[in-house]
Amino acid sequence: MKQIKDRFRQLEDIYPKNEASSIFYICMTTLLGCTKAELLCMREITLSEEQSCRLDQMLERLMKHEPIQHITKQSEFYGSTFCVTKDTLIPRPETEELADWIITDWSGKECSALDIGTGSGCIAITLAKNMKKAEVTAIDISEEALIVAKENAKVNSCHINFAQLDILDRQKRDKAGTFDIIVSNPPYIREAEKEDMQRNVLDYEPATALFVPDNDPLLFYREIAEFGKTHLKNGGKLYFEINQAFGNETVELLSNLGYEDIILRKDMFGKDRMIRATHK
Ligand SMILES: C[S@@+](CC[C@H](N)C(=O)[O-])C[C@H]1O[C@@H](n2cnc3c(N)ncnc32)[C@H](O)[C@@H]1O
Repeated sequence: MKQIKDRFRQLEDIYPKNEASSIFYICMTTLLGCTKAELLCMREITLSEEQSCRLDQMLERLMKHEPIQHITKQSEFYGSTFCVTKDTLIPRPETEELADWIITDWSGKECSALDIGTGSGCIAITLAKNMKKAEVTAIDISEEALIVAKENAKVNSCHINFAQLDILDRQKRDKAGTFDIIVSNPPYIREAEKEDMQRNVLDYEPATALFVPDNDPLLFYREIAEFGKTHLKNGGKLYFEINQAFGNETVELLSNLGYEDIILRKDMFGKDRMIRATHK
């Protein structure tokens, strides 16, 4: 194993050591079709020529900064496996915390939920799987993302109402129903922040999922919050994942629109990352 692992040392040029090591194990378990525990128990590993060649190809793609999730075509989210492609954002651990907040608030209750900008469907599907009495709807502007999300719902045995909709299109969005829960992890990175971003995100993840104009970073929050005023039931709740730089501004925006009981929460990295607000 050491010899094989040594081939992956070059990954440490572009990833921190511990991340490079996890990526190595993901490649090996994908290649051999085993778990990490099984892999670690193997005394000796002899790769066939074909396996060795596939491993080299994985390494070559990784060295071009391609995300490991695109190579394995899957990502883990809240204990389930989701297919991801170049058309969907790779689900992030911070978003699991947002989904968990909703599940904690609503599990066991009859409710309707709308996920705006569903991407791979990770939030919508996680809610449907963990809130058995919820009726879940999910929308996205991207037809390609919706194809992936629908496949993920099928694989995860969930019923979700999917629809293609541009949430910024006020006329079309007004035809949507009313919900107990509206959740969104919308695009929130300013173009100006591109400079600080890693190539594995910039070169491989969809720009429509990531960026907002520098001069209007709260665009989606304002539009979705306004939509929520007419499409949330009384007592319904809005849940947002947010840009850590705009916690207070987003709270103020929601407060100005008349939302109540607004809570700003930090993520596991200590950054302002999610908000819950109530429509009364
Ligand atoms: C940050 S990604 C979130 C994806 C997924 N919900 C997650 O948390 O991993 C934002 C999503 O919003 C979608 N989106 C961007 N603009 C939109 C719009 N105007 N209307 C609806 N969805 C939009 C993108 O296609 C993308 O899937």
